[in-house]
Amino acid sequence: MGEFKHILRTQDFTRSWLEIKFFPQVDWMIKLINEKEGPFLLRNILPGKNVILLFYEPSSRTRVRFQMAAHKLGAGAIVLEGAEIGKERKLIYSSEMKEEIFEDTIRTFAQQGNDAIIIRHDQEGMAEKAARVIDEFGYNTSVMNAGDGPGQHPTQALIDVCSIRKHFGKVDGLVGLLLGDLRGGRVMHSLAYLLGKFKVKMYLVAPPFLKMPQNIIDYLKRHNVDFEEVLLEYLPQLKRTIDFWYYTRIQLERYSENEEVLAYLKEYKPIIFDRDFAQNYFRPSDKVYHPFPRGNEITPWRVDNEFSCKNTMDKMPQAGYFEQIGMGVPVSMVLLKMALAPHIEINDLYDNYFTDSIIAQCVVCGRVESKIMGWGEQAIKSNPLLAKIVCPNCRPKQ
Ligand code: NCD
Repeated sequence: MGEFKHILRTQDFTRSWLEIKFFPQVDWMIKLINEKEGPFLLRNILPGKNVILLFYEPSSRTRVRFQMAAHKLGAGAIVLEGAEIGKERKLIYSSEMKEEIFEDTIRTFAQQGNDAIIIRHDQEGMAEKAARVIDEFGYNTSVMNAGDGPGQHPTQALIDVCSIRKHFGKVDGLVGLLLGDLRGGRVMHSLAYLLGKFKVKMYLVAPPFLKMPQNIIDYLKRHNVDFEEVLLEYLPQLKRTIDFWYYTRIQLERYSENEEVLAYLKEYKPIIFDRDFAQNYFRPSDKVYHPFPRGNEITPWRVDNEFSCKNTMDKMPQAGYFEQIGMGVPVSMVLLKMALAPHIEINDLYDNYFTDSIIAQCVVCGRVESKIMGWGEQAIKSNPLLAKIVCPNCRPKQ
């Protein structure tokens, strides 16, 4: 078992885990991904392992980042996708179409030896339910919640905090504003709990029907988090006091049966983050984040739409939402490594990698040749065990 077994909700992370274990590994992962030998080392972290993604609900970013993370670490990734069948979502072409119960589906994938089950579901609590099945029957499989209905989306919140930390160099001391659908937006729930572990001043700004659920408000109060709930109309008073702005779309799919909310939303006009708004509200060092997909709350840059291209803030330095997407793969890699290969030390990987892959040394300059990466840049002490040849740089020119 890894440094943790399951990732279900952000309340479970401790500040010391974030600081001592998680952030340093994210820094290290980003550095390694960008180093010449990085990809070769990384693919030795999870060879022979397999993760399975059970995505009952649609996804672009979350699904692909986990698949990419698994592949880059040398693991396999299988994806099963859901569709609405009758009134329920089911994994299509799976035995759920033959009325197999969720518990048996989860147990099947654990029994087959999948090392992680990454689950996105339209119902709150389903990742926890999967973890109950795994623990009840003693499997080692790790369950990761990739979004459970209006519940939580903990791995997205980790990406968000890493993005904030990367830009500002810290999280403590910042002022953040969470704006949009705080009721149905699971990302907002996970983020509020997670930011609550830092010394962040948090403003929660939502239309009246879409406020943060009371249980989360109570939790933040109990934990002495510095936050304020603010009505939408007071937003102008906050301008130029905020460091990061976190916006989400209205989660329309969560309200299809709530007449009251639907009636309200018919009249509701979201605040639009565009060039004008940005110039009026944001300081140069501010950052805007969004978990995506965006609705019309941040004007997008669109190829065939001159108006959109002129009015978008996408090319302004405050737009942090695409950098935020870029944080997804390294963070997912760290989570998979921590859960499935906690004992692998990167220094050991370096040693094994270099001793195994070096095939020759240049008698003239002392550089060594790796069968994977070619000739290195640094000379090393002469090693009698290596074949001695003359490297291309030292060969006499014809
Ligand atoms: C979000 C989700 O699915 O909760 N997207 C994501 O995973 N990055 C946000 C949303 O759908 O609005």
